[in-house]
Amino acid sequence: MEEVKETKKRMLSGIQPSGDLHLGNYLGAIKNWADRVNDYECYYFMADMHTITVRQEPAELRRRSLNQLAQYIACGLDPEQNVLFLQSHVPAHAQLSWVLNCYTMFGELSRMTQFKDKSEKHHDNINAGLFTYPVLMAADILLYQPDYVPVGEDQKQHVELTRDIAQRFNSIYGDVFKVPEPFISKQGARIYGLTTPGDKMSKSIPEGCVFIMDDPDTIARKFKKAVTDSDTENCVRYDRENKPGVANLMNIYSTITGKSYEEIEAEFAGMGYGKFKPAVGEAVIEQLRPIREEAERLMKDKAYLDDIYKQGAERAAYVANKTLRKVYKKVGFYQL
Ligand code: TYM
Repeated sequence: MEEVKETKKRMLSGIQPSGDLHLGNYLGAIKNWADRVNDYECYYFMADMHTITVRQEPAELRRRSLNQLAQYIACGLDPEQNVLFLQSHVPAHAQLSWVLNCYTMFGELSRMTQFKDKSEKHHDNINAGLFTYPVLMAADILLYQPDYVPVGEDQKQHVELTRDIAQRFNSIYGDVFKVPEPFISKQGARIYGLTTPGDKMSKSIPEGCVFIMDDPDTIARKFKKAVTDSDTENCVRYDRENKPGVANLMNIYSTITGKSYEEIEAEFAGMGYGKFKPAVGEAVIEQLRPIREEAERLMKDKAYLDDIYKQGAERAAYVANKTLRKVYKKVGFYQL
């Protein structure tokens, strides 16, 4: 066991339990994680500390933090093979975050597009946490010395900032942090909303967002209402620029079935959107059905989930504290 661990590369990633998991999270992130479990040593967590940069309902946050663990496992993340944990259970995240705040520049944080977007959306609550959010994310990553950070495209800028912070710190103190690479799959990297194919799929537009716990009827209805294009061509053809809605549906279908765009065009040749949209819906329903059923079963077993969280926090803290001790020593904190 130990020997295998040493030769494997390490992956780490997280998702905020700020809403229920959706198809974008699944195709952009979790499906990739689950597909690679045999080749990497993997750490996946629920980023609950990140969620409070936007106001949360406490009981809901608690509920989602537990349910999200059930959903991770149901998506194929075996808790023995992967270290699954809740961010707030490992204090080293907050501790390293403070240190890294002092090695991150105001200008760098001002350039983060997520900060700009979120401060527009939540203009009545532009708190310091929203601004320093990428530093906490850098701490999340660097604590575990991962080789790769598998994320969707929208998180690439944050991983790049993490690399800059790590390099800056290393250039002062020697090789403390591994400089990680973002790992972005070509296909699911950006799933757009079904009703707004110009914007990424997100819980903030629920009618165009397919949640992994949605029942089959709801999913079918959402796909039926999916926006295709405004021209009258009614032809399934990949053209990201002029037919973004159709391209998005083709991307979803391709990521799930493994079929190429040419194969999909051939499959639906002469059939029009009336056949295509329900077929994509059906593929999604069948992909999500076993996940939903297993998650529903696991969500009822709080004792089991608590136990996974306990073990996960211990395994994570062991690795995280090693890095934190090194950092504290390097910056000159007096140690007992
Ligand atoms: P979050 O919670 O917004 O999203 C979690 C993951 O899902 C991906 N994703 C998408 N991929 C494709 N299409 C979409 N429409 C879509 N929506 C979301 C995201 O790219 C991400 O991979 N800051 C992070 C959470 C985080 C983190 C970390 C990630 C905190 N610490 C450390 C990696 C490493 C976030 O808000 O992701």
